[in-house]
Amino acid sequence: MPEPFHVGLLGHGTVGGAFATLLAERAGAVEAETGRRPELSGILTRSRGDFEDILERSDLIVELMGGIEPAREHVLRALEAGRHVVTANKQLLSQHGEEIFDAARRGAVQLRFEGAVAGVVPAIRVMGESLAGAHIERVHGIVNGTTNYILTQMTATGATYDAALAEAQEMGYAEADPTEDVTGKDAAAKMAILARLAFNAAVRLDQVSYEGIERITPDDIGYAKDLGLSLKLVGSAQRIDGAVAVHVYPAFLYADHPLASVNGAFNAVTIESPAITEITLSGPGAGGVQTASAVLGDVVSAMIPPPSLPAPAVEQRIVTDVEFSFYLHLEVADRPGVLAQVAEILGMQGVSIRSVVQKGLGPEARLVMVMHPVLESKFRAAVELISRLDFVREPPRVIRVIEETF
Ligand SMILES: NC(=O)c1ccc[n+]([C@@H]2O[C@H](COP(=O)([O-])OP(=O)(O)OC[C@H]3O[C@@H](n4cnc5c(N)ncnc54)[C@H](OP(=O)(O)O)[C@@H]3O)[C@@H](O)[C@H]2O)c1
Repeated sequence: MPEPFHVGLLGHGTVGGAFATLLAERAGAVEAETGRRPELSGILTRSRGDFEDILERSDLIVELMGGIEPAREHVLRALEAGRHVVTANKQLLSQHGEEIFDAARRGAVQLRFEGAVAGVVPAIRVMGESLAGAHIERVHGIVNGTTNYILTQMTATGATYDAALAEAQEMGYAEADPTEDVTGKDAAAKMAILARLAFNAAVRLDQVSYEGIERITPDDIGYAKDLGLSLKLVGSAQRIDGAVAVHVYPAFLYADHPLASVNGAFNAVTIESPAITEITLSGPGAGGVQTASAVLGDVVSAMIPPPSLPAPAVEQRIVTDVEFSFYLHLEVADRPGVLAQVAEILGMQGVSIRSVVQKGLGPEARLVMVMHPVLESKFRAAVELISRLDFVREPPRVIRVIEETF
C-alpha cells in the first residue's frame, strides 16, 4: 500500500471547512487518479494546532487563513522546507508574489493558487498552462461576485446602490463590511495576479489603479440602456507600447461583449491574443464549497508531477494614463448653445463624441454622451473645464466604456 499523501490545512473557516469536508468525500476518487490517498495531517486555527508540527507531518500545505501575516511566514517556511503549497490568498500573492514564487523555485516545489482568482473558474490554469504558448495582449475580468450581483440587481430592478448592497448582504453575497469588494480593491488584487501570469510582469496591488461602484446611480444605468450599454465592474490588464497597464473600474459594455451577459454573483475572464482571438471562462466566483473545489483541484495537480511555476518576472514598465472610451453624464440648464459649448471644449482637448442623447426639459435637462477612445488625462482635463461652465448644474459623472465586440 502506498503511503497516504499528507495535507496540512492552515485555516478552517468558510473555505478551509468546506475543503476538509470535500477532501474526505473525494479521497477515494483522488486515490484512483493519483495512486495515493490524500489525508489531513493537521489543522491550524487561532485556537488549535501547531504549525511546525503540522509542517513536519505534511507533504503539502493548504493555506486558507487569508491576510498577510502569519500566512506569508507559513507559506515561505513550507516552501523552503520542500513542501508543495496550495493557497487561495489573493492579498498575499498580489503583495508578496515574487518573494513566494522565488521560494517555490528554490525549493523546487509546486505553488498553486487557482482559488485566489475568480473562485472555481480555471483562469489561472488556462493562462499558465493551456495558453502558455500564446502571446496574451489583454485580459478583461469580472472578478468580484459581490459587485456584479449589486450591479445586476440595480439594472434589473432600478434599485439604488444602497438598496442593492443591503439586499446582497441579506442574501450572503456581500460581507457586513463590504469595503474591499465595493471599492474595487479585491478585484485589483486579482487583476494583479492575472497580469503577472499574462505578461510575466511583476505587478503589485499598489500598481493597480482601481475605482469602485459606490457612486453609480440608477440614472447612469437607465440612460445607458438607451445607448445599448450594460454596466459591470471590470478589471483590465493590457500591454501598451511595451508597458503594462492594470486597472479596475465600472465600465459600460456593448451587448455583444462576452462579459456583458455575465450576471449575478458569477465571475468571468476574457483572454485576448492574436493567436486565439478571444477565450472567455465563466462560473461561480466565490463561496466556500466552490473555492474548496478549486483548491482540491490544485492539490490533485500537485500530487502529479511535473511542477509548474510561472517563469521569473521580467522588468516591465507599468503605466496608468492610457486610452479609454468614456460615458459622460451632464445635468445642464435647458437653453440653446449648451451642446455646442460642451462639444467645443471636448474638441479642444482632442476628445471626439461617438453618440449623444439629450434627455428631459427645464430643470430635468441632461446630456448623456459616449466618446471615442482618448487618453484619460485629456478627457479628465476636458471634464474639469466643462464642470466650471455656469449651465452645468451638478458635478459631471464619468464611466468608462469598453467598445470591443468579437
Ligand atoms: N470565502 C470565499 O468565498 C473565498 C473565495 C475565494 C478565496 N477566498 C480566500 O480564501 C482564504 C480564506 O477565506 P475564508 O473566507 O475561508 O476565511 P475565514 O472564514 O475568515 O477563515 C479563516 C480561517 O483562518 C484561521 N486563521 C486566521 N488567522 C489566523 C492566525 N493568525 N492563526 C491561525 N489561524 C488563523 C481562522 O481561525 P479561527 O477559526 O480560529 O478564527 C479561520 O479558521 C482567504 O485568503 C480568502 O481571500 C475566499
